Amino acid sequence: MADSDLWLFGYGSLIWRPDFPYRQKQVATIDGWSRRFWQGSHDHRGLPEAPGRVVTLVPTPAATCGGVAFQIEAGHQREIFDQLDYREKNGYERLEVRCELADGNQVNCVTYIAGDTNEAFLGEAPLADIARQIQGAHGPSGSNLDYLLELAAALRELGIADTHVFALCDLVSRQ
Ligand code: BEZ
Repeated sequence: MADSDLWLFGYGSLIWRPDFPYRQKQVATIDGWSRRFWQGSHDHRGLPEAPGRVVTLVPTPAATCGGVAFQIEAGHQREIFDQLDYREKNGYERLEVRCELADGNQVNCVTYIAGDTNEAFLGEAPLADIARQIQGAHGPSGSNLDYLLELAAALRELGIADTHVFALCDLVSRQ
């Protein structure tokens, strides 16, 4: 690995739609965080009058969140982060986290987090309400339901467990 390489941890749409070049990717985990559908989306998977919900990371001391870490060469970093900063402009900020890769190595990773003070943050709600909101929301990037189902399918394929995401999938299949 070149010294100038940088790692990016994806826990949402980056898992199934990493539309940027990378040297390698590995399943990875970060401790102390959980993935939650607590961020409002009025420009991707919803509209201002009917926001959808997308994932963010929430500090959770005893939890571990699984995702995918992408190793990015120095020559591509500027263009990729400019693109991601734009794509995720709705309340997300970069944060550095410590990540354990599937091969056992630990690396520092950049990730994107929408904290609880950003304007679009919706926060916790009963799971059934979150499921209903996801089922009813559509935005320029597609339906909120597709976002949930694609995330769940990608997690299952990689062997990453997530009770929050899988419980929402069960609920939308029953509602
Ligand atoms: C991700 O897939 O990791 C991601 C989630 C939210 C914003 C940006 C990236």
